[in-house]
Amino acid sequence: MGGPRAATTRARRMSTANGTASSPVALLTGGAGFVGVNLAKRLLDEGRRVCILDNLARAGVRNNLRFLQERYPARLDVLVADVRDDGAVTRAVERADEIYHLAAQVAVTTSLTAPVEDFDINARGTLNVLEAARRRKPAPLVIYTSTNKVYGNLADVALKKQSQRYVPVDKALREKGVDESRTLDFHSPYGCSKGSAEQYVLEYARSYGLPAVVFRMSCIYGPHQYGNEDQGWVAHFLIQARAGRPVSIYGDGFQVRDVLFVEDLVEAFCAARQRIDALRGCAFNIGGGPANTLSLLELLSLLNERQGHAVATQFVGWRTADQRYYVSNTSRFTAVTGWQARTPPREGIERLSQWLEAALPLSRGAPLPMAVSQ
Ligand SMILES: NC(=O)c1ccc[n+]([C@@H]2O[C@H](COP(=O)([O-])OP(=O)(O)OC[C@H]3O[C@@H](n4cnc5c(N)ncnc54)[C@H](O)[C@@H]3O)[C@@H](O)[C@H]2O)c1
Repeated sequence: MGGPRAATTRARRMSTANGTASSPVALLTGGAGFVGVNLAKRLLDEGRRVCILDNLARAGVRNNLRFLQERYPARLDVLVADVRDDGAVTRAVERADEIYHLAAQVAVTTSLTAPVEDFDINARGTLNVLEAARRRKPAPLVIYTSTNKVYGNLADVALKKQSQRYVPVDKALREKGVDESRTLDFHSPYGCSKGSAEQYVLEYARSYGLPAVVFRMSCIYGPHQYGNEDQGWVAHFLIQARAGRPVSIYGDGFQVRDVLFVEDLVEAFCAARQRIDALRGCAFNIGGGPANTLSLLELLSLLNERQGHAVATQFVGWRTADQRYYVSNTSRFTAVTGWQARTPPREGIERLSQWLEAALPLSRGAPLPMAVSQ
């Protein structure tokens, strides 16, 4: 990806939105990514002005950007820049009333091979956003997308195998999921960089009064997700299955996650924006919750059923920091905002499949043009 200096020279504005400099702007760092494009679409549909700051490092996200630029030529501003470039971040934040800080190195695997770059992007990049926000008067709202990885691999949770999944022995955990009182236990460089970033966000809320909130997100899935083996497993499984390629299962496939359809996540962002005074300075677990869980094997069964034939699989060893069971307890956020995950996995997967069929047309076995590096 290159260092911050290289990033500075690369920073460039791709399009300038119409409207006056004083109109409210929502800044989405990493806005060309999967979560970003879905949030941008929602805000632009509401008539808002949006600025995206993204270095386009993630394979496939240029397509997301093209989608937004074609659909919303008037109110979208794009800055191709790196969050490690504090000058570019400062310029983008100067015009922002709301900041959704999504830009990140997103893979645990990459963080293990390049921990310094992971730190620079996730921790230092977040500090750049916070410092720029702190200089603004009044300070803009900041929503930070953290991860369930801040709770570590939850190795102490007693589990049993049931059908195709792990199930917690403890009844309360089984019925409600993991809540925010769980001890933080950063695991993997990614867990450390995202975890320290979220702690800075909370600290800037406490010490500098920044109206900031942290989402500790579980597995998000949906349209515009260029999932790969390292991140975005639901989309990755669907992409592999469509291409007739095998899916690698790391571990035994009984791992369980609560899955949240991206439009439900976007609703949560909107709810947080509306209730920021009640939520500021707090971290919330955000995911599909106990009603929307899937194990890897269950997703494969669903795909087999959908396709009418078995998806080829190969079993590989466990990966570092992989959680055998993680399901969010979202009650704390629901209690303040009334928000709830609404989309059942079957419906969400159908919608993701439809998007993939339109976005990645391919004959069985052919390479996926947009799922490779660009
Ligand atoms: N998708 C999930 O299941 C999930 C779960 C937990 C947390 N998160 C967090 O949510 C956020 C968004 O995730 P996503 O799934 O949309 O990922 P994504 O990879 O699709 O989007 C991230 C975007 O950030 C951009 N980016 C990467 N490095 C950058 C840099 N140095 N400067 C500027 N832009 C950079 C990428 O080009 C990409 O467009 C991330 O912070 C991620 O850690 C996602």
